[in-house]
Amino acid sequence: MRVSVIGCGYLGAVHAASMAKLGHTVVGVDVDAAKVALLAAGTAPFYEPGLPELLSEVGGEGRLTFATDMAAAAGATVHFLCVGTPQVHGEFRADLTYVEDAFAAVLPHLQPGDLVVGKSTVPVGTAETLAARLEGTGATLVWNPEFLREGFAVQDTLHPDRLVYGLPTDEDGVPTADGDRARKILDEVYAAPLADDTPLVVTDYATAQLVKVAANSFLATKISFINAMAELCEATGADVTRLADAIGYDDRIGRRFLNAGLGFGGGCLPKDIRAFMARAGELGVDQALSFLREVDAINMRRRVRMVDLAREVCDGSIVGRRVAVLGAAFKPDSDDIRDSPALSVAAQMQLQGAHVVVTDPQAIDNARKAWAGLAFADSVEGAVAGADVVLLATEWPEYRSLDPHALAPLVSRPAILDGRNVLDPRAWRAAGWTYRALGRP
Ligand code: UDX
Repeated sequence: MRVSVIGCGYLGAVHAASMAKLGHTVVGVDVDAAKVALLAAGTAPFYEPGLPELLSEVGGEGRLTFATDMAAAAGATVHFLCVGTPQVHGEFRADLTYVEDAFAAVLPHLQPGDLVVGKSTVPVGTAETLAARLEGTGATLVWNPEFLREGFAVQDTLHPDRLVYGLPTDEDGVPTADGDRARKILDEVYAAPLADDTPLVVTDYATAQLVKVAANSFLATKISFINAMAELCEATGADVTRLADAIGYDDRIGRRFLNAGLGFGGGCLPKDIRAFMARAGELGVDQALSFLREVDAINMRRRVRMVDLAREVCDGSIVGRRVAVLGAAFKPDSDDIRDSPALSVAAQMQLQGAHVVVTDPQAIDNARKAWAGLAFADSVEGAVAGADVVLLATEWPEYRSLDPHALAPLVSRPAILDGRNVLDPRAWRAAGWTYRALGRP
């Protein structure tokens, strides 16, 4: 199958390489010439485990090319829309400019029988609008949301939990003849995962678009639920990690996504729940999602609470104190700093008068570019030198396994804030550290 992938960010670059791995002939198109040049040279423009290996494997086979000119997409049968939908500055709603631009750019290159397959996370109703614009071209729109997690993007794309096809349907919700044909083409595109018994949900446009934001809202709610419990634990001396273990044994609840700490960040969960609320408002059903406001508020409160904890261990003031922040990425195995809780807390402490030094194994260059006001170190040792307090903000494996005995002589006073509840309090206390965490006594 000849495939184009429009937009080569986290989603598109991984999708393009993965489609080539599945045996298709793929062209990735992006307006960013620097990104295209890197990808064309087989270099991943961001840190994602497994992607460099995949790019060199499929690049060597000659089935993956990249271009800035949309004309390169002409001749492909399936065109995946993989552009970003960031939050509009100062508002909750999603910015659809990139979707609009990508769609308009590919439109003149479509042939009858082609598929345009939306993968971006969009406000429900977007697919319907785009589909109407395909009328008369003979091309069909499909909505096929992507659920990949950064850090596991290659694995999630090649072996997804499920596939969702939103097809054109008649008034009974049954796929139209074009919908049926589109389904057959997509079945061919995803033949390998489907042969592995990947569950497939075939549905209408609206449901397919909602599945993505509903899933992310559920995950965000699960995290904020446990962080709300952490607030109760802080008020009562209970331990949120043991609470999560105990409720997580109920397999209706499940232990995953019950890790209390600094909360969620990244390019998806925060902006997706906000865009979902904005869309619900436009649809006149804002009450249905008013709980997401609370989910967002609980999440942001954790960051404030962490600054308070730092103040507590610094005897009431962080002014002039040295704070080492371990982690800049919004989560481990990523160099993505979008809405990173680590950097948000670092910036708040800096604003309140602390001298903050941030380190991260992968995200330090991105963080340096975006946060000119903060100081950075290339190593843990460099960051913690002379620190009054150390904050573990992103749970990279190398931070989880830090040796409290080895670190103690480097700091000014041994105080550790475990922002992700991943350290053993007893081991740190036994090594002479003041250990504080969110939701733990
Ligand atoms: C998320 C969804 O998981 C994915 O399905 C969707 O396609 C995109 O959005 P991602 O943003 O890569 O993926 O990160 P995820 O692993 O979901 O973590 C999101 C944030 O939640 C991170 O900041 C993480 O640290 C935080 N988190 C996660 C918690 O605070 N506690 C948890 O228990 C789990």
